[in-house]
Amino acid sequence: MEKYFRRVIKTFDMKKNIFITGTSSGIGYGLAKFYLEGNHQVFGMSRRTGDALNTYGNYSHLVQDLSELEGMNAPVKKFLADTDKLDMVILNAGILPQIRDMKDTPLDEIKKVMDINVWANKILLDQLFENTGIIKQVVAISSGAAVSGSRGWNAYSLSKATLNMLINLYAKEYTNTHFIALAPGIIDTAMQDFISSLPDDERFPVVSSLKNAKGTEMMPDAETIAPKLDRAFQKAIKFSSGEFIDIRNIL
Ligand SMILES: NC(=O)c1ccc[n+]([C@@H]2O[C@H](COP(=O)([O-])OP(=O)(O)OC[C@H]3O[C@@H](n4cnc5c(N)ncnc54)[C@H](OP(=O)(O)O)[C@@H]3O)[C@@H](O)[C@H]2O)c1
Repeated sequence: MEKYFRRVIKTFDMKKNIFITGTSSGIGYGLAKFYLEGNHQVFGMSRRTGDALNTYGNYSHLVQDLSELEGMNAPVKKFLADTDKLDMVILNAGILPQIRDMKDTPLDEIKKVMDINVWANKILLDQLFENTGIIKQVVAISSGAAVSGSRGWNAYSLSKATLNMLINLYAKEYTNTHFIALAPGIIDTAMQDFISSLPDDERFPVVSSLKNAKGTEMMPDAETIAPKLDRAFQKAIKFSSGEFIDIRNIL
């Protein structure tokens, strides 16, 4: 099976069509820029536009709020109307809510995080498979929080654990597409700015360790890490479709 995926992905090695959510900042922005500079066609999606990307002729952007689950299908369908194959779909957009104990987390907050980090991806995948002839690879940006169970990571951990299983289940249905959920390591983005703004709290030791990593080589920025992420996406083909992989275990 690995040989099959290698062969089909190689076929499209020259100029790829790459769809990425959350391209206005952070990891999505870094990946979009990396692929645009490699002359690939990038389709980006987020609420803000990520202005610097719009200067590339090979970039198209859809302004879309992923929390609007009901209203997403028509704009996405129109956005990709002229695209009959996607070499790569990177489900990257995500949010991190307040770090606090589960008992203090309102259910509405959990539902909001689940909508953006999980259910929007289900709707997108259904839409993309319905309207795009071929999708070679799907990478969902997950997190070590999917499995660590660190205190305070409440809805975020739940959402990433569910995302991993969502990807696993889709892999069983679309056997000609390679799926992976990937924990990308710690990367200096707006999400980490938010974590760094939090006070140290002995109940939530991961916050303090991330604050200590910020500004060090342990936490590279998104543009620096993009080529490494791309290598990880390629290496991921060796793994069974649908698996959850931590980048720290494969590079
Ligand atoms: N940074 C890390 O260390 C780290 C570690 C593990 C996993 N991750 C994961 O990596 C992914 C990217 O995070 P990041 O660190 O790059 O954070 P970021 O800089 O905050 O980027 C988040 C992206 O998601 C988009 N987004 C958020 N809410 C949205 C909504 N309602 N509709 C459409 N787009 C939305 C944002 O665009 P708009 O605000 O313009 O809509 C933005 O482009 C997330 O899934 C995160 O869980 C990050």
